[in-house]
Amino acid sequence: MEDLVRATEPVVGYVPAPEGTNPPLDSPGYRSTALRAPHRPALPVPTSLTETTGPVFGLERLGPNDHDLTRQHEGEAVGQRIIVAGRVLDGNGRAVPEALVEIWQANASGRYRHDQDGWRGSLDPNFTGAGRVLTDAEGRYRFVSVKPGAYPWKNHHNAWRPAHIHFSLFGQAFAQRLVTQMYFPDDPLFSQDPIFNAVPDPVARQRLVADYDHDLTEAEWALGFRFDLVLRGRARTPFEDEGGHGLG
Ligand SMILES: [Fe+2]
Repeated sequence: MEDLVRATEPVVGYVPAPEGTNPPLDSPGYRSTALRAPHRPALPVPTSLTETTGPVFGLERLGPNDHDLTRQHEGEAVGQRIIVAGRVLDGNGRAVPEALVEIWQANASGRYRHDQDGWRGSLDPNFTGAGRVLTDAEGRYRFVSVKPGAYPWKNHHNAWRPAHIHFSLFGQAFAQRLVTQMYFPDDPLFSQDPIFNAVPDPVARQRLVADYDHDLTEAEWALGFRFDLVLRGRARTPFEDEGGHGLG
C-alpha cells in the first residue's frame, strides 16, 4: 500500500503538460472513444524491477532497411517519396538517445496493409508501411517513406482522415511507451477530423503538424518534413492513450 501511495505523489522536477495538450480519453465527435474510454479512475500500478530493467530493443535487432519504407521490397514503392526526420527531446530540450521510434502508415492510396482495412484504395505490393529506428546520441531519427494518402472511415458522414503517420516511442523500458500521429502542413481535411481536433489546445494541436523543410529535401529524390517529439514540459507533443485508433 505504501508503494501505491508513493506512486501517486508528484515527481520532483517533473513539469506536467499544460491542460489541453492531450486529447481526453472520451473525445466528443470521435465515436469509438465513447466505448473504450474507462469509466472508473485509473489505479496506480507501482513500477517494479521487471518493467524498468526488462529487455528493450537494441541496435542489433534493427534491420538495415527498417528506416527506409521504400526499400523493404524488390520493387519501388508507389507515391511521393518523403524524408521524415526530427529529434526526440525531454522537457528541458535535451536529446533522448537510443529511443526506439516506430512508425506505421497507409500507402499512397490511403490503404493499410491490414486485414481489417477494406476500403477500395489499392494495395501496393512494394509497400508494407511499417518502420523503426533508434535515435542517435543527439536524439535524431530519420525515415524515408512515401506520403500516405487520406482515407475514409465511418466515424461520421463523408469522414476522411487527413494524411498522417502513426508514431510510437519506447524509452529505456517497455513500460515507457508513447503513441501519437504526425500530420502534413496545410491539409484541407483538418477541419472535419475529430482525432486531430481532439487535442483541445490549438497551439498544442499544431505540434502534431510537421514542418516542410527545404534543407531536408533532397534534390531529385524526396521532400523533407521535420517533426520533433517532446516528451514532457510546456512544449510537450500531444500523445494518445495507448494503442492509437482502430486501424492503427
Ligand atoms: Fe491511421
